[in-house]
Amino acid sequence: GTCVIGLQWGDEAKGKLVDLLAPRFDLVVRYQGGANAGHTVVAGSETYKLHHIPSGILHADVQNLITPGVVINPATMIDEMKGLLARGIDIKRNLRVSERAHLVMPWHMIEDRLINAQKVRGESIGTTNRGIGPCYRDKVGRTHAIRLADLIEPHRDERIATVAQAKRELLLGLGASEEELEIIKPEMVQELAAQWGETLRPMIADTTDYLLDALEDGKQVLFEGAQGALLDIDHGTYPFVTSSNSSGVGVCAGAGVPPRWIQTVIGVCKAYSTRVGGGPFPTELTDDTGSKIRELGREYGTTTGRPRRCGWFDAVAVRYTARLSGVTQLSLMMMDVLSHFDELKICIAYDLDGQRITRLPSSAEDLRRCVPVYETLQGWNSPVDDATHVDDFPPAALAYVKRIE
Ligand code: IMO
Ligand code: MG
Repeated sequence: GTCVIGLQWGDEAKGKLVDLLAPRFDLVVRYQGGANAGHTVVAGSETYKLHHIPSGILHADVQNLITPGVVINPATMIDEMKGLLARGIDIKRNLRVSERAHLVMPWHMIEDRLINAQKVRGESIGTTNRGIGPCYRDKVGRTHAIRLADLIEPHRDERIATVAQAKRELLLGLGASEEELEIIKPEMVQELAAQWGETLRPMIADTTDYLLDALEDGKQVLFEGAQGALLDIDHGTYPFVTSSNSSGVGVCAGAGVPPRWIQTVIGVCKAYSTRVGGGPFPTELTDDTGSKIRELGREYGTTTGRPRRCGWFDAVAVRYTARLSGVTQLSLMMMDVLSHFDELKICIAYDLDGQRITRLPSSAEDLRRCVPVYETLQGWNSPVDDATHVDDFPPAALAYVKRIE
């Protein structure tokens, strides 16, 4: 198997790469995260924005799996399917979704909104408000979780009524209004759940068994990461992270695949850095250069439309995530955005309280105090969009790539 892993704070153009590579594979697998992801795939004149569905979906011969580590919002997933269907892509044929996957329920969305308004260590996490954190918390907590399989089980209505009641009390305690809680009345959620179950039934499968069979049969599998390694719950810039293992180390647990099946890890990063939401970002540029990168790179969120924070390439952070994810190859995206600068900077170390360090501090407070040590490189000031071979690149552009390499 081959993995595509984001090495920064998400939005590295993983979806574009997966779509490009998909025809060489038999299967594309989404294994963590949920509708917090926004993967834009452009095919011909059409632009597809995918949140749950793997970016291999546009290729009819490729099977797409959503495995146990993903959290699914059935309502938005069904919308996504309808959008694809309307453009002639019949996902029933080449999409399978794990019965073990957990569901993001309406109460998770409310809870995320209520909690996201609060500050952690002086700053809001700035989640995507997609209910991701609350859903993963219920999964780990085990008492109030609902899995995809529950939608087609006889105990469904009973289970939903119990959980809805518990959630009602919890959300009232968090300051929700009675009005806001109308949508989680048991009868309403039960009705929705029945519809979701009927719509999704043909796609519900044991993806773990399917995937292991495929690997044992010699099939080529591409694992599509969501978010980026710096947002990894265990290894990222905690607590300003997402709630899943979004670095390379998350593939096995999320997909249900033992390490022996993974040979190639493609780390994806932009030629500069972006971050959306709160948390430390040492190379952030709040000046005109930052705005210039944002406009040239159209750096606005796919899922939330928020402007992304922009800055220079951070080699300290990417070296850390590249090692952590075990990358065997690096894919450098959005080089064309840097075609319009006289000088470019790469952060090669941090100055932390007067000490020069080259490792990523584990504490958000320390990282916030880190001042980047920059190396300045020459810009190339000419387009690279049409380059298809190394010889097509201006020498300064090649030097920039080589330095990162
Ligand atoms: P893709 O797959 C960029 C960020 C949010 C927030 C933090 C936690 O498109 O690269 P969450 O809603 O997950 O609890 O939010 O993580 N975040 C992303 N940033 N791209 C993503 O996905 C992201 N998914 C989550 O902005 O800071
Ligand atoms: Mg995104």
